[in-house]
Amino acid sequence: MKSYIIEGGSKVCGTIKVSGSKNAALPILAATILNSGDSKLYNIPNISDTKNTLEILGILGCKIKRNSGKIEVNSRNMNKFEIPEELMHKMRSTVILAGAILGRFKEVIFTYPGGCDIGSRPIDLHINAFKKMGIEVKEEAGRIRCKTNRIIGADINLDFPSVGATENVMLAAVLADGTTTIHNAAMEPEIVDLATFLKKMGAKIDGAGTSIITIKGVTKLTNVNYNIMPDRIEAGTFLCVAAATGGNVTLKNANPGHLSAVINKLEECGCTITTSNNSIQIIAPKRLKQIEIKTMTYPGFPTDMQQVFVAMLLKSSGTSVVVENIFESRYKYISEIRKTNAKITIEGRSAIITGKRKITASDMCCTDLRGGAAIVIAALMAKGKSRVSNIEYILRGYEDFDKKLNAIGAKIKLEDY
Ligand code: EPZ
Repeated sequence: MKSYIIEGGSKVCGTIKVSGSKNAALPILAATILNSGDSKLYNIPNISDTKNTLEILGILGCKIKRNSGKIEVNSRNMNKFEIPEELMHKMRSTVILAGAILGRFKEVIFTYPGGCDIGSRPIDLHINAFKKMGIEVKEEAGRIRCKTNRIIGADINLDFPSVGATENVMLAAVLADGTTTIHNAAMEPEIVDLATFLKKMGAKIDGAGTSIITIKGVTKLTNVNYNIMPDRIEAGTFLCVAAATGGNVTLKNANPGHLSAVINKLEECGCTITTSNNSIQIIAPKRLKQIEIKTMTYPGFPTDMQQVFVAMLLKSSGTSVVVENIFESRYKYISEIRKTNAKITIEGRSAIITGKRKITASDMCCTDLRGGAAIVIAALMAKGKSRVSNIEYILRGYEDFDKKLNAIGAKIKLEDY
């Protein structure tokens, strides 16, 4: 079990290089299945979610070469289409492999995905879309088998602009017969990154980044080289670390265009933000102003930033309200943060954060990936020594998290026992 020992109470100052995006890398790694050839990917973050995805690709018969952030996948000899159950449970994004395997082999067997416990996380939108594309879906003893002779382009209307369902339909549609149109598609930057990667492979995709995406099926895809976009949630997390400790931090390899809703809220809190096309600087005041936040789909305020903002707002001078509209139970981490003398009440989907209280060091345990980052922020605010355990959650999505924080003056020691 791994833990962080954090000596909190000091501000952070310095420069951090943001890593490649976890939520862009995972669907793009899945997409390497489609070209039955070579994909050279750069800026892939070295985190457990990408390691697990590469392990699955290897088990399915792909040849993998890894050299720090550069990954080479050759999917020519891929010969299996059943995703190993024990690896399926490790994370949510394994369900995206289903669309890619289907797109290539017209058959896939998988189980319900795992991932952070932040809600029921059904996959009904994925399955309904596959059925509309002429794919037979059978469920037996928790295993889902999808099979068809040919994938037919279809009009897909998503009840909710699901990121994963949008990605899965795109992956299943690039080699389909005919044209697929996704209505009410997710508009997140990671969707645009996936579409750009697929188009470099020879796919015909229009409208990525809007709510209507059209994919015209092709018969062949080529080898590809691609540089993954920066991780906007990691960038936002470090901005909140600076805001929570009254710090001054500059992020390199960050795209402020992906974070306008987040930057807007940080400025509303009283932070000074300066941006260029690939950097963001934040200078935080001693005390933040209280604010109200509602999580929405992109380009609204991202649900993945809810947790770190709740922790950061403990530093505000009044009472803030955060409403989580995307996942139905994404507040589990708050019971841990309350151990620091924080006053956060939950009423339905709203978290009410009382500022101006002395935050004290405490032992806390991570409950999920982004909740874990929020717990680290609370520990950084609290004078004294805190132990944050179960940090395996954090290692799923943040590359070199403690190293980067120590580089800007935090005092974090990794303990492995
Ligand atoms: C992706 O998850 C991200 N994960 C999540 O980031 C992110 O929070 C989420 O999108 C929303 O932005 C990856 O990209 C690997 P959804 P995903 O499908 O695709 C409901 C992180 O911390 N829904 O957009 O699972 C669902 O229950 C992770 O990096 C259905 O009802 O999210 C949820 O309430 C956490 N049926 C809402 O839609 C479905 O078939 C949003 O889910 C699918 C989803």
